[in-house]
Amino acid sequence: MLKLLITGGAGFIGSNFIRYVLARHPDAQVVNLDKLTYAGNLENLAGVEKDSRYTFVQGDICDAEVVAAILDGGIDAVVHFAAESHVDRSILKSEEFVRTNVVGTLNLLELCRMKKIGRYLQISTDEVYGSLGPESAFTENTPLAPNSPYAASKASADLLVRSYCRTHNFPGIVTRCSNNYGPNQFPEKLIPLFISNAVNELPLPVYGDGLYVRDWIHVGDHCAAVDKVLQQGNEGEVYNIGARQEYTNLEVARRILRELGRDESLITFVQDRPGHDRRYAIDPTRMENELNWRPQIPFEDGLRETIEWYRRNSEWVANVRSGEYLTYYDRMYKERKRTLSDR
Ligand code: NAD
Ligand code: DAU
Repeated sequence: MLKLLITGGAGFIGSNFIRYVLARHPDAQVVNLDKLTYAGNLENLAGVEKDSRYTFVQGDICDAEVVAAILDGGIDAVVHFAAESHVDRSILKSEEFVRTNVVGTLNLLELCRMKKIGRYLQISTDEVYGSLGPESAFTENTPLAPNSPYAASKASADLLVRSYCRTHNFPGIVTRCSNNYGPNQFPEKLIPLFISNAVNELPLPVYGDGLYVRDWIHVGDHCAAVDKVLQQGNEGEVYNIGARQEYTNLEVARRILRELGRDESLITFVQDRPGHDRRYAIDPTRMENELNWRPQIPFEDGLRETIEWYRRNSEWVANVRSGEYLTYYDRMYKERKRTLSDR
């Protein structure tokens, strides 16, 4: 029986991962530790609470007492998703990113070391590598060069994991994935925001010239990759995860509009993101060659299914788009709004 502590399991990728693990590993038990910030939502796990193999603990990864109590309950491995995850928010205000992403990770590492936890996965991001030119892709040996406070906080956490592995012989592994999309993603990120806006015939705010490139992977493929690393990855190593599916933001916007039968006039160019990384692209060769992992979901199919999910789950969208979200989004959008005619 494998008993997992999953942090941030009420968020987008964490909730998809909990469903993935419970569906594929009948002998697994899961403890989900989540603070339930604006991004954490127990609706993402509807139905899962009935599974006797699942336990939810509302708490902060920075809280040593809470984390220690869970680890004392007998945990075999930790999969650490919990984070402040949105680049634009980190530009507006950075403290929470350092608190959760750096201090919170250190707290987990230290307690896992003391309690001799058998395996620890740090769920990191390709953003730690910074921005790419038109050629090449990020490998595990690409130097870290984060450009946003979010990316800097994730890179700091990765370096702490590395230091624990080297100094304490700690069983840590880092995964770095490219941009995820799929069900239950909070609609402040590009794809769910554009789908929700397009459904409601609201403008799609494209930053700068819209020619920034992201490398998209369906969250289901990411979950399968994390599971592979959990089962077969080598301690002290880094694994890049990506599906070799690069698109400009404009191309993504156009595909969403086409799929929903909406007019391209909804595309609204707005002020650029400061420090905006031009291009990300992951080289997933190590995952493919060493762990025999392959992504299964082509972008076209995954995007269509995701659009369908957001259409079917309009109540979920309405719930998360209320309250604190609206205050944030109004502020962001007003600050950025600069149509082509203003230029
Ligand atoms: P998310 O923002 O949807 O979810 C984050 C979760 O962490 C939420 O449930 C939130 O309540 C919880 N959380 C935040 N602070 C906490 C704290 N102090 N203690 C306990 N719980 C806390 O994020 P996501 O998009 O699901 O990303 C999950 C992880 O994957 C992050 O570490 C992120 O850096 C990484 N990642 C994300 C992507 C992506 O495209 N979304 C790609 C690569 C890596
Ligand atoms: O690459 C992995 C990272 O992907 C994760 O580590 C982050 O947690 C996740 O948020 C994501 O970061 P990005 O900054 O790439 O994602 P975001 O969805 O915020 O933006 C994607 C691209 O779309 C980026 O070039 C900015 C642009 N954009 C975004 C928004 C929200 C727009 O043009 N308009 C928008 O309204």
